Amino acid sequence: MATIVGGVGSTHVPAIGKAIAEKKHNDPYWKPFFKGFDYVHYWLARTRPDVAVVFYNDHGLNFFLDKLPTFAVGAANEYRSEDEGWGIPVSRPIPGDATLSWHLINALVADEFDVTMCQEMLIDHAVTIPMALMWPGPVWPIKIVPVEINTVQHPLPSLERCLKFGRSIGRALESYEQDLRVVVIGTGGLSHQLDGARAGFINKEFDLLCLDKIVAEPEALTRYSIHDWVKETGSQGVEFLNWMAMRGALTGRVSELNRNYHIPISNTAAATVVYENQKEVARKAA
Ligand code: DHB
Ligand code: FE
Repeated sequence: MATIVGGVGSTHVPAIGKAIAEKKHNDPYWKPFFKGFDYVHYWLARTRPDVAVVFYNDHGLNFFLDKLPTFAVGAANEYRSEDEGWGIPVSRPIPGDATLSWHLINALVADEFDVTMCQEMLIDHAVTIPMALMWPGPVWPIKIVPVEINTVQHPLPSLERCLKFGRSIGRALESYEQDLRVVVIGTGGLSHQLDGARAGFINKEFDLLCLDKIVAEPEALTRYSIHDWVKETGSQGVEFLNWMAMRGALTGRVSELNRNYHIPISNTAAATVVYENQKEVARKAA
């Protein structure tokens, strides 16, 4: 059976791609951010996942405002990226696991999440930047299942819906017959707003509250509406929906192994976390 080893939360700011290409890891601006991935590398070397389920939002590379699914699941054996106009190197393709994708899609639809299924899917910086941060070597030692959540065009799914969506994927993973080790990843956030009158807005106090609550009581965050969330975190802070889905997919006992919170990376409050997922020990009947 598949095992969900844990979850990782990561920002996906495109400027990181340029910093990686220019080897700026020890530059004073970047060092406190990149250092936050030392633990991630240690943990990945220890847990050795085979597959990553990546919850992310597409920013207009694969889907645009004319057709934008609320939830879409990739079902390909390879995912390519393309130039998005950020002036960063285009990522090499990332291998997929189409068999696992179809298992998840079947389980989601049976569970009343009527997802868009994508046998071809371009992945943007919201997948490639966290991947490059987590696995900085010259080859990807992992396959992915990219799972898109609409955080771009309103109406967006609620925090509660995304938590439940993640839980459905978590249950589906645990019922998968192959002995795979799976890491779930949520990308984007935390607070940021890229345009409009509040461009540059960051809310550290609220971000820290979210990072505290998401570990043991993610339900506490579901009382915020999407409009509350925009008010508290900026118009792109809604990328936290990807984190809610990642947390939902951790269906075991969850503990925070590592947290790095750094302001700013570009216009964004960047958070990097590692959550361990321990299977609930089945209780013996009395
Ligand atoms: C930035 C943040 C994002 O989430 C994104 O998708 C693009 C840019 C930024 O802070 O520059
Ligand atoms: Fe983004």
